[in-house]
Amino acid sequence: MKIDRHLTPDTIANYIVNDISQNDDLRGGIAADFSCASGRLMRKIIDHVEFTKIVLNDIDGEVIDYDLFLQENLEAYNLDFENDLSAQELHQTEGYNLIIINPPYSIRGNKRYTTQIGDLIIKSSRVLKHILQSLSLISREGVIYCIVPTNIFSSETDQRSIRALSAAATIDKIEKFGRGHFTSASVETVLIRIKNYDESAFFKLLGEEVSANFEKKIPSKFTVERGNVSIHKLDGSLHEYEGKNRVRFIHTTNMTGKKLHYIKQNIVHRVFSGKCILMPRVGTLSIEKLVLVEYDRFIVSDCIIVITGNEVDSLLKMMREDYERVKSLFSGHCAKYTTLTRINNLILEYENLNKI
Ligand SMILES: C[S@@+](CC[C@H](N)C(=O)[O-])C[C@H]1O[C@@H](n2cnc3c(N)ncnc32)[C@H](O)[C@@H]1O
Repeated sequence: MKIDRHLTPDTIANYIVNDISQNDDLRGGIAADFSCASGRLMRKIIDHVEFTKIVLNDIDGEVIDYDLFLQENLEAYNLDFENDLSAQELHQTEGYNLIIINPPYSIRGNKRYTTQIGDLIIKSSRVLKHILQSLSLISREGVIYCIVPTNIFSSETDQRSIRALSAAATIDKIEKFGRGHFTSASVETVLIRIKNYDESAFFKLLGEEVSANFEKKIPSKFTVERGNVSIHKLDGSLHEYEGKNRVRFIHTTNMTGKKLHYIKQNIVHRVFSGKCILMPRVGTLSIEKLVLVEYDRFIVSDCIIVITGNEVDSLLKMMREDYERVKSLFSGHCAKYTTLTRINNLILEYENLNKI
């Protein structure tokens, strides 16, 4: 099994070693790497700083190089760190003093990870999931070093958690590394250090962030989703006639359905039904592309947003009247795009102001 294994480059490891070496409090306790691959990164660190116990984990049962740790007090695991129950098996009564992670970054499709924090369910990117798991295990004085893609700080999915965490802990960006540092992946990364983590402040701030975005307080009457079918992958399977197992397919250049298209229904294709608003997610918005459709079953491309709910007629009217505002929710350097969160927030705002 080889899942997202990319050797942490020595340049990055050296920055961690250098930083830890300057912190005398970071000697002695328990040190861990929860997605350690062979464990080389940890080996490099303990060559310079001594710890009483080393905990290593990697989901891959064959990857840890035990020979590197023959002289150490080592505990090794092969747990899925993205699974909350498995991660809690790594719990140490006294908490970890040092956690280093270079987690996997790749995400299939539009997958989001969920983590229960207090009574909140937080959606996040994969990297932030690894950080949240690490936070649940770190001691009060502990330090986490994490090598993350730079875009975590601009990510819409993670922004509320990052904002809450920045206020409940000290996050320092130690050094940025451009593309080309990892030999097997092209990604811009930054080494961050998280310390002084205050768990109760984090839970409280996260709760405020969530309610500020109306998520818990006002359940919306509408659901905003997107299609999950890439039109580029439909070569040869786009039909002009309905047939057995075929479902109507709508894409951005044919939202009014002037020309009929059908694709084979398949369990991975998200199927919608009933009366819905369609709007482009990617591309240029025009008033003609804010449309109402009603079909028994249909599938849309991943460039289309689908809004469902009992009062879609009044919502569409509101959005058309407020067209300039809706249009302003599209941005982007090259192709313009909008996001589910922006559209959802707009609808919540209408609802909050009793406009619909
Ligand atoms: C970027 S590599 C770590 C590289 C390591 N620091 C080194 O220098 O060799 C990420 C590792 O995460 C592991 N991994 C992927 N998914 C995981 C999961 N859900 N739980 C724990 N480890 C996981 C992979 O097997 C891989 O070895």
